[in-house]
Amino acid sequence: MKDKLQQLKSQFDKAIEEVKSLADLEQLEINFLGRKSGLLTSIMKDLKTLPKEEIPAVGQIINDVKNYLTSKIDEIRLKIGGGDSASSFDYTLPGVEQPSGHLHMVTSAIEEIAAIFTKIGFSRERYPEVDWDYYAFETLNMPGDHPARDEWETFFIDSEPIKMHLADNSLKLTDKGKRILTPHTSNGQVREMEKGKLPIRMMNISKTYRRQSDASHAPMFHQFEGLVVDKGINITHLKGTIEYFVKNFFGADREIRLRPHHFQFTEPSFEVDISCGFCHGTGLVDGQKCKICKEGWLELAGAGMVHPNVLKAGGIDPKVYSGFAFGWGVERCYMMKSGLNIDDIRLLYKNDLRFLQQF
Ligand code: FA5
Repeated sequence: MKDKLQQLKSQFDKAIEEVKSLADLEQLEINFLGRKSGLLTSIMKDLKTLPKEEIPAVGQIINDVKNYLTSKIDEIRLKIGGGDSASSFDYTLPGVEQPSGHLHMVTSAIEEIAAIFTKIGFSRERYPEVDWDYYAFETLNMPGDHPARDEWETFFIDSEPIKMHLADNSLKLTDKGKRILTPHTSNGQVREMEKGKLPIRMMNISKTYRRQSDASHAPMFHQFEGLVVDKGINITHLKGTIEYFVKNFFGADREIRLRPHHFQFTEPSFEVDISCGFCHGTGLVDGQKCKICKEGWLELAGAGMVHPNVLKAGGIDPKVYSGFAFGWGVERCYMMKSGLNIDDIRLLYKNDLRFLQQF
């Protein structure tokens, strides 16, 4: 058997000299090392016929020959440039690009808004998204069947009213009304006051729900609410805070103006307008009326000085403390950033990658 192995080795050395291509090499590999009828494989099968004591030594020679053949074959394969060994990998071929995601624009806007207000001392608080009528309406100076409630087009949840303590610690049990999907973030106002910690400088950014759907209204959207309560708080604090936010979020060139408005829970109340980023507040583009704003200003959101009845509902004496509050739509604010031109708010929630990938 040793002779046979020696012969096989010489035969292999000759044959490998003749190899010119990868196909030749593959054929040579099959001829010598093929599992079924390779020459070396047939010799290995005969190993069983040898006397037991000879098997280890001959086995060792077979292994040596096998290693010799495979290393020679690998060597030639590298020279020819084929096979799947590491050095034959072509680093210059373009790779397959993996799709990579990014934060949704509304999430980024929320993070940006939170960072801006955190810098001036607002702390982000969280309140229930499914809350009692009591916090969303009743304590916000909108009793029972007050018509102002209609403006919020609320989703109600079938649930039994429960009895709880009043905010003024009077131990009187009261009915907190029906449960609702919060139609605005103002439900956090009295909840924050009930914590009994003053002064207050809170921010509430949360999902809000209304029975509305058109180009500028989504049934689920986000609002961010700010509430400040302290001694001596007045309208200049409100205006300064809003101006600070607008300049940081929209750009230093944007201006604000406050217009008188009505909310049941603030007095006085304002609608905040921001100068249009398209016509830079002039109302004109190339001598024509600006298509975005028509008059130089865009309506942004509501704000006002906290109504004394709301402070009382939260257990705070309105003769000693005053406060301001504002509540704005995150999506609407985001859409008003210069240069975005998103003309339908519902696009933000369609999950169409062709739209989302642009941001
Ligand atoms: C309110 O919800 C008041 N709670 C705001 C407030 C808070 C005023 C504190 C005073 C003090 P309003 O209904 O106007 O107000 O909504 C506020 C903002 O939410 C709107 O200006 C708009 O930006 C956004 N908004 C309202 N409804 C929708 C909707 N369906 N889809 C998207 N954004 C909306």
